[in-house]
Amino acid sequence: MLLCDGVSLDGLGQTHGTPLYVYSAKQIRHRFSLFQDAFAGWPFTICYAVKANSALAILRMLAKLGAGFDIVSGGELERVRRANKTALKRVVFSGVGKQVWEIDAALKAQILMFNVESEAELALLAERAEVMGVRARFALRVNPDVFADTHPYISTGLREHKFGIDIGLARGIYRKSKKSKWLDAAGVSVHIGSQIRAVEPFAAALARVAGLVGELRRDGHNIRYVDAGGGLGIDYSDSPAHSTFDPARKVKDYAAALRKVSASLDAHLLLEPGRFLVAQAGALLMRVLVVKKNGTKTFVITDAAMNDLIRPALYQAHHEILPVVQPRRPGAADTAVDVVGPVCESGDFFARDRAMPKVKAGDLVVLLDAGAYGMSQASNYNTRPRAAEVLVDGTVAKLIRRRETLKDLFAPEIP
Ligand code: LLP
Repeated sequence: MLLCDGVSLDGLGQTHGTPLYVYSAKQIRHRFSLFQDAFAGWPFTICYAVKANSALAILRMLAKLGAGFDIVSGGELERVRRANKTALKRVVFSGVGKQVWEIDAALKAQILMFNVESEAELALLAERAEVMGVRARFALRVNPDVFADTHPYISTGLREHKFGIDIGLARGIYRKSKKSKWLDAAGVSVHIGSQIRAVEPFAAALARVAGLVGELRRDGHNIRYVDAGGGLGIDYSDSPAHSTFDPARKVKDYAAALRKVSASLDAHLLLEPGRFLVAQAGALLMRVLVVKKNGTKTFVITDAAMNDLIRPALYQAHHEILPVVQPRRPGAADTAVDVVGPVCESGDFFARDRAMPKVKAGDLVVLLDAGAYGMSQASNYNTRPRAAEVLVDGTVAKLIRRRETLKDLFAPEIP
């Protein structure tokens, strides 16, 4: 029988129904502590990327541990405010298209810094800061033109991507920014992508940033912050590498790589991890509705679908799936099945041709490593209410988001 810390998944499925996201508070705290340990001795702040999992209860827990937040919308700003008002001063605001109301709300909240992604955005920021009568701290998010091996949809650090400002042009833009007394060039930021397993690309990007920081200081800018972005990857696979994945080692290697290139940086380091903190702390619990054979293929149809977790459909992502009651890793004798949801698309799958221990209708199965970009990317496609979420802390399981009702779904509509 599978457990999440001290709580049985079978019991959770019975109490709260399925599909159900289950998170371990202990695991999230542990991952956070790995960063704190690895970067101890540096002036640094972990600005958790809210988009990875934006549950208020999780934001609140991280804020209590001292986290700041990386946000990309006015909605995420409001989440941080509701989770913990004092954390607003540790917020960085990223994103390629910020709207006036979002900029205004962030200026009013006196966030730490705007990560600005274009000259036009910088002009808009100066304009809004003047209207509000406050100085806006900003960093240009530079595009370092560094390649990092990951899925093309989540790679961002190359010139061909929509993100950031060509690092070669940044110095001139900082220079121009001096003309506005409403702008305070407080930092430089970079983010090269997500689910990046090697640490070298992060170091290469930061080395370029360090060079720019030197130039900017010589130009008279008071650069206090360097934002190294997020993107550190985890291991989703069932290969033998899975068991040797050592998150503590990974964060230490990451810190060592960054240290090497930033020894003389003399700036407060901001880190924006999302996935690494929460992915492996979460699972998606679901029930088998039907086991169906079509020709030679066997389909395990579950009550969760691509609207609950889109990662396999969108990025061909691999997630381990285990039966809850008699969990074991699949063996050679197990037949290959497709694990799919009820949504009317062939792209609605969690696994294809996956060897799995036999399951039958009514069984609970659990999809692992679903704590990041699971619920936060969920939708109501096919008019399906979104799943409930439970946060387990030791032996206590707390419902942190109730299951949506059909009434919730229809509330905004005007027939
Ligand atoms: N900072 C910025 C500016 C970002 O754009 C992102 C993620 C992060 C930090 C956090 O990256 P992380 O540490 O979580 O890798 N939905 C995709 C991932 C999209 C990532 C978007 N940006 C997935 O499920 O793999």
